[in-house]
Amino acid sequence: MCNDFTFSIIKPNAVRTGKTGPILAMINENGFEIEAMRMVKLTVQQAESFYAVHRGKSFFEGLIEFMTSGPVVVMILRHEDAVDQFRKLIGATDPAKAEPGTIRRTFAVSIQMNAVHGSDSPENAVRESNFFFSEIEKYC
Ligand code: RTP
Ligand code: MG
Repeated sequence: MCNDFTFSIIKPNAVRTGKTGPILAMINENGFEIEAMRMVKLTVQQAESFYAVHRGKSFFEGLIEFMTSGPVVVMILRHEDAVDQFRKLIGATDPAKAEPGTIRRTFAVSIQMNAVHGSDSPENAVRESNFFFSEIEKYC
C-alpha cells in the first residue's frame, strides 16, 4: 500500500561531495523503496516556503543559504511506519548525538550540513511530497 511513505532530501553538502550513491544504498539496504526521485536546485523562495516553520529562528537564514547552495535530491520513500522508521535511520539532527550506523552519523559534517532531511509527521510527508511531486510522478 502507498499510505506509508515519507519524504526525504539529500542536502547540498552530501550531493556535492559524492555521497548521493552511498546514501541511496543505505536507504535501500534498510528496506525503503524509492517511489519518486528528482535532482533540483532550490530557489530562495522555494527553500523559505519549504522551511517556513523555522522562519524567525536563529538558524533560519543560514539554513536557507545552505539549502540553496547547490543541487539536492528530493524523493518519496515507502516503508512500513515510514516517517518514524526513516527518522530512526537518519538519526539525530546534531550528528554528534546521532547513533552509530545512522545516515547523519555517517555522512553529516555539522548540525546544519547534516546530509539528509526526513519528514517529521505523516501530515508533513504529504505536504512535502506534494511540494515537489505531481500526481503523475507517483506510481501509486
Ligand atoms: P530536517 O527537518 O532537515 O529533517 O531536520 P530535523 O527535523 O532533524 O531538524 P529541524 O529542527 O527541523 O531543523 C531543520 C534543519 O535546520 C538546520 N538546523 N540548524 N542549531 C542549528 O544550527 C540548527 N538547527 C537546525 C539543520 O540542517 C536541520 O536539519
Ligand atoms: Mg525537521
